Amino acid sequence: MTVPPTDSSTVEGVRSVPAGGEAAGRPLRILTLVGSLRRNSWNRRLALAAKSLAPPGVEVVLWERLTELPHYNEELEHAPGPAVEELRAEARRADALLLVTPEYNGAPPSALKNAIDWLSRPAGAAPIAGKPAAVTGGSVSSFGALWAQQVARRALMIAGARPLERELPVGKIDQRFSGEELADEATAQALRELLRELAEAARSEGSEPTFASTTPGRREA
Ligand SMILES: Cc1cc2nc3c(=O)[nH]c(=O)nc-3n(C[C@H](O)[C@H](O)[C@H](O)COP(=O)(O)O)c2cc1C
Repeated sequence: MTVPPTDSSTVEGVRSVPAGGEAAGRPLRILTLVGSLRRNSWNRRLALAAKSLAPPGVEVVLWERLTELPHYNEELEHAPGPAVEELRAEARRADALLLVTPEYNGAPPSALKNAIDWLSRPAGAAPIAGKPAAVTGGSVSSFGALWAQQVARRALMIAGARPLERELPVGKIDQRFSGEELADEATAQALRELLRELAEAARSEGSEPTFASTTPGRREA
């Protein structure tokens, strides 16, 4: 059953044709957020690997100011502050979004969810509405932060983005690097493929938002 969205942010603002990117004579820009705030984060290393594995014509841009975002509060919407303004501007400028997340107790870290919440508003003009998105991440366990990625994907979808229909869990992430370098070729190849799919989604025309077609039974607010 298709349930209509409860606010216009999931429909209005959806771009059927990417506004910029190669069509505008510049590389496709993938705004990348990392859920871990740790300096030595494995997930940050994975995001940095994505920068170097991006296909030709695609630029992976990390935005690393999640700690400067206030906790989401609707009362701040009239003046959310410079970090929120910058994040929203970066999202509007981007052709696609990449989230790289660890798993904390079965979910993405709150800093990353907070960023998604800021990016889901203003209602009707969400900066990520209609943007293709991909989610990856890893954990030291063999499950590879899959639950966190599923939660993040669902949140993106409800916020009006167009996440790919899969995640990319990286299990035992601590064993896949040699220092800062991604040393595991299978992981590198999987990441390349994810970025290729994301770039293809950003280039595709006439895409529909996935929320209305695939999200079952969203509750009325
Ligand atoms: C508060 C907390 C909760 C965690 N919960 C999970 C979990 O639910 N599932 C899991 O696979 N790993 C869990 N871990 C382990 C993380 O996967 C591991 O610390 C990972 O290296 C964090 O990513 P980072 O290196 O990018 O910071 C947890 C770690 C912390 C600190």
